[in-house]
Amino acid sequence: MITITSSAKETEKMGREIARHFKRGDIVAFTGELGSGKTTMIKGIVKHLTGCEATSPSFVLINEYQGKIPVFHFDLYRLRCKIEIETIGWEEYLDKGIVLIEWADKITEILPKDTIFINLSIINDKRKITIKGLERRIKNDKQRKSIKST
Ligand SMILES: Nc1ncnc2c1ncn2[C@@H]1O[C@H](COP(=O)(O)OP(=O)(O)O)[C@@H](O)[C@H]1O
Ligand SMILES: [Mg+2]
Repeated sequence: MITITSSAKETEKMGREIARHFKRGDIVAFTGELGSGKTTMIKGIVKHLTGCEATSPSFVLINEYQGKIPVFHFDLYRLRCKIEIETIGWEEYLDKGIVLIEWADKITEILPKDTIFINLSIINDKRKITIKGLERRIKNDKQRKSIKST
């Protein structure tokens, strides 16, 4: 699934829209260079799921947002070694809510198979957003919705 957005606002909106399809236990892995819009998109997701204003957790490893489903926002930009992430016990977070990870390419090999991947890339003043691992669910959710309304 590929989308092009022309502004930060559009990217945030995209985050709000896909957040409807997330559920407890999901890991969403964000990749893409600095300034590509990872945090912007996460702001939309966190807003939809918790009503909170997400900020970039650049000086800490994790931000936690409480909502109907809690959101745990990891930023691995400053991660020095993989051991660090393995010692924070993140299985515990998975049971509780949704895990969003910026700079997930640093830990690709320890991510489960069913991880949802979102890559953002800068194309001049636009952003190309590629989402993997969510297509089938979006389709199913849409079908369910249309059955309900008939
Ligand atoms: N289409 C777009 N989507 C997201 N951000 C955009 C877009 N166009 C310009 N920007 C700008 O790019 C920057 C993205 O920053 P941020 O979301 O913090 O990136 P990252 O977390 O990937 O480092 C912001 O300054 C934002 O205003
Ligand atoms: Mg960021």
